[in-house]
Amino acid sequence: DIKKKLSIQSNASKGPPSPKLPFFIGVAGGTASGKTTVCNLINTQLHDQRIVLINQDSFYHSLSDKILQKVNDYNFDHPEAFDTELMLSTMEKLKHGQVVNIPNYDINSRKRVEPPRQVHPADIIVLEGILVLHDSRVRDLLNMKIFVDEDSDIRLARRIQRHTIERGRNIQNVLDQYCRFVKPSFEDFVLPTKKYADIIIPGGGDNDVAIDLIMQNIRTKLGQHDLCKIYPNIFIIFSTFQI
Ligand code: ADP
Ligand code: C5P
Repeated sequence: DIKKKLSIQSNASKGPPSPKLPFFIGVAGGTASGKTTVCNLINTQLHDQRIVLINQDSFYHSLSDKILQKVNDYNFDHPEAFDTELMLSTMEKLKHGQVVNIPNYDINSRKRVEPPRQVHPADIIVLEGILVLHDSRVRDLLNMKIFVDEDSDIRLARRIQRHTIERGRNIQNVLDQYCRFVKPSFEDFVLPTKKYADIIIPGGGDNDVAIDLIMQNIRTKLGQHDLCKIYPNIFIIFSTFQI
């Protein structure tokens, strides 16, 4: 019997380990809901892993000068504002361990600028943005889907503060954009993706209990993920030796 058990172990360790696939986490939610704050907490707490944060904003279409002349009529909160095909192919490459170039989007000029950010494969890839759960092909790549939920008034207050004080924009302009595009698109496209989330965090980065549970879950999933990918037979070995 012990010979049989040892042969299972040696067979399992003979073949080369399959390459380790990165663990993909998607963090969606409305504007100023606390997505970046949650991602930064995940990043800080997983400091012992190779982790890369990617913002969906990087995949905004670069606007032509003609469109820029009427930029106040442009909806930055519509799914078509993003180059989703590029985001998908970039994520697929990362999933297969390839180095990728992430576009460098300049929020002030609303254009892509050079050089792009070169990103190497990592253990964990966190994709953050208002609409990262919108496209089913992107969703299918994600191992964990999070939706950060925050009261709309709080989000609007934060957005006004960010866009006026931090970005120097005119308050009337910020409110017009919010009423014409941000709020309706949130209701039409962002909020409906909440149903795809594995985890909904009310209160964003302030929700210590939710963040702790997520971290525990990520660590458990990472353990299972690594073991299954590297040594598909490892659970057989463990269970055999426990008999
Ligand atoms: P998002 O990435 O969803 O746009 P951020 O995490 O960047 O949101 O947060 C938006 C703004 O609100 C930032 O200025 C951030 O510092 C602030 N903020 C985020 N979470 C909280 C919180 N729980 N309490 C107070 N301010 C917060
Ligand atoms: O970080 P946050 O989730 O707020 O980023 C998304 C928001 O950025 C969108 O609601 C969009 O209206 C805004 N945006 C903008 N101008 C751009 C690009 C995005 O106001 N050029």
